[in-house]
Amino acid sequence: AAPRIAIAGATGAVGNTLIELISSRGLRHRGVRLAASARSAGRTVEVDGRAQVVEDLDGFDFTDVDLAFFSAGTSVSEKWARPAAAQGALVIDNTNAFRMDPDTPLVVPQVNADVLLAGRPASGIIANPNCSTIPLVRLLQTVEQRWGIRQVVVSTYQAASGQGQHGIAELREGSALALSDPDAELPADRFKPALAFNVVPFIDKLLDTGFTMEEQKMLQESRKILGLPHLDVTTTCVRVPVVNSHSEAVWIEATEPVDRAELVGRLAALPEVTVHDKDTPGGFPTPRTAGEPDHVHVGRIRVAPHNPRGFWLWLVADNVRIGAALNAVQIAEYVLDRGLL
Ligand code: A2P
Repeated sequence: AAPRIAIAGATGAVGNTLIELISSRGLRHRGVRLAASARSAGRTVEVDGRAQVVEDLDGFDFTDVDLAFFSAGTSVSEKWARPAAAQGALVIDNTNAFRMDPDTPLVVPQVNADVLLAGRPASGIIANPNCSTIPLVRLLQTVEQRWGIRQVVVSTYQAASGQGQHGIAELREGSALALSDPDAELPADRFKPALAFNVVPFIDKLLDTGFTMEEQKMLQESRKILGLPHLDVTTTCVRVPVVNSHSEAVWIEATEPVDRAELVGRLAALPEVTVHDKDTPGGFPTPRTAGEPDHVHVGRIRVAPHNPRGFWLWLVADNVRIGAALNAVQIAEYVLDRGLL
């Protein structure tokens, strides 16, 4: 039977996109209930063209829910995802709360959906990876299989929407203010220092290693998803004043020399990946111009003349869709299509 769905964090940037994707992709369901904070309880949001009242997550009863999407932040998932799973819902969690939990699969459907075939996870939760990890591992898998990976070095260029609707609003307000008055003090609540006309090499919290949590996530999550516990991925994560879509400059050193034409062919053959190459205007994707929002866009593919085992690429992926809501919906589609619920 079609599942009864709930969305926790339904009024947020990812929640809105989940609602849109459930409709546009025709995910089978017997109703979608919406939950958010007490601030939003009682508001209505359209689901499949019908007004649906938002409920308070605090006190929300999941016993009649088969599938629950959580995207209300890590602390909210830490509090409510296990109780929801205990009430019988299969939780697809967008936060960092359970990604490294051994009883919780961490899934990018195009890469490791087969881990779901083991049946309902012991935790009752399936974790959605970090928004920068998802497009990266979708490309790394084919490189590992064909050439072997020695090391991956990544710099990210991450959009404000990674901090949700408040992040987007803060960037817009700060940008408008800075344009009207170059000396204005800019809002710096979601981003410190202010992001407008700036780049900030700091996302999430600082760890003892000197890396940020965001940087550590990319290492640990890539290892878990790809099943490569020793994979060497090292990252600098940077917030840039872009409203939506993350970019990444990626250096991959393989164990064997890489033929560029074969590499382009293999990347272009991946599902929902578009390679922008010499035949594309500009030959590279950007957050504004990449096109198809449900594809990972790749360009600037170049093998190093001095080291033919190494190559650079540039990727752009919509972090709210590919990096969060779409990945979660594709997990749900996989689970439903195979009768795993
Ligand atoms: P609300 O709109 O009521 O604050 P975003 O990532 O775009 O900021 O969205 C975060 C989502 O998580 C929103 O739907 C928000 O609801 C929800 N949320 C935030 N804090 C809580 C909380 N303590 N309990 C339930 N939902 C929350």
